[in-house]
Amino acid sequence: MKSKPSVPDNPNIYIPDEDPYYYIDSEAFGILEKIEKISQKKPVNVLVAGRQGCGKSSVVNQFAAVNRRPLATFQVGILSEPGQLFGEYALENGQTRYKKFLFPEAIQTPNCVIHLEEINRPEHPKALNMLFSLLSDDRKVWMDELGTLKVADGVVFFATLNEGDEYIGTELLDPALRDRFYVLLMDYLPNEVEKEVLMKKTGVSDSQAAEIIDAINVLRLNSELGVAVSTRTTLMIGEMVAAGGTLRQGIITSLQTNKEALESILLSLQMEKGYLEKGELEYLRFTKEAILKSV
Ligand SMILES: Nc1ncnc2c1ncn2[C@@H]1O[C@H](COP(=O)(O)OP(=O)(O)O)[C@@H](O)[C@H]1O
Ligand SMILES: [Mg+2]
Repeated sequence: MKSKPSVPDNPNIYIPDEDPYYYIDSEAFGILEKIEKISQKKPVNVLVAGRQGCGKSSVVNQFAAVNRRPLATFQVGILSEPGQLFGEYALENGQTRYKKFLFPEAIQTPNCVIHLEEINRPEHPKALNMLFSLLSDDRKVWMDELGTLKVADGVVFFATLNEGDEYIGTELLDPALRDRFYVLLMDYLPNEVEKEVLMKKTGVSDSQAAEIIDAINVLRLNSELGVAVSTRTTLMIGEMVAAGGTLRQGIITSLQTNKEALESILLSLQMEKGYLEKGELEYLRFTKEAILKSV
């Protein structure tokens, strides 16, 4: 058995709560179990790839939660220079001093899950250089400011990568970096499972969930509309409906797109009143009194 993880006094490194309704296919389930096993023997890194909102960040959270591991998440997508994860020089009482960030602490926390978000898009191509050696089997990096940093035992690195129209698969990731990861490819859940998640997480009824899933299928299957409806979007629509909203309200607020696209979306869903024809809507005063009267 693994010893209890020692969690540092840092509010940003903690064991996340388990999501009781996180679903995963049996193959991925089995793979993640093995990853946990391997990690107790040797360093292991996992790259999770899939479209926006398909559950990549959640799977990393859930891996940490299930295995009772502390988790620390870092946005790699916003890095603009090498070393930026580790710390920076700051002026303190008129003196420049090196200030350590969370990252060095996280990698030195035994059994920590280190989540590197959006590893495919650092702003600076060299921003990932210092990660190379950390991700290799010797798990060490040397820095002028901090000396040798050694990754603690049991640490697992998870990188997530957003696939988009312009970016599919892992081929654009630097081969030297890609080489160091097990790859887990994810996609949206099948309808029956997504419906279950929708009901469990938002509280919509069976028939409401079915209606939402039907609408979403129309959008997913119509590639001309060019909307990618993620599980996140489905849940947002569900919350709107669970709060008493109409499916139409859920859709016009949850699909982040422009008015013209919304117009064709509503048309394809046969929701009579076009989005652009707002002139036909009644205008109300948005006041507390009016809200009390409307319920
Ligand atoms: N397989 C799943 N089971 C349950 N909920 C899911 C699943 N996949 C995604 N979700 C939910 O959808 C939302 C978006 O997931 P997230 O992990 O943030 O996506 P990503 O990181 O791929 O953009 C979250 O609220 C998450 O709980
Ligand atoms: Mg994410």
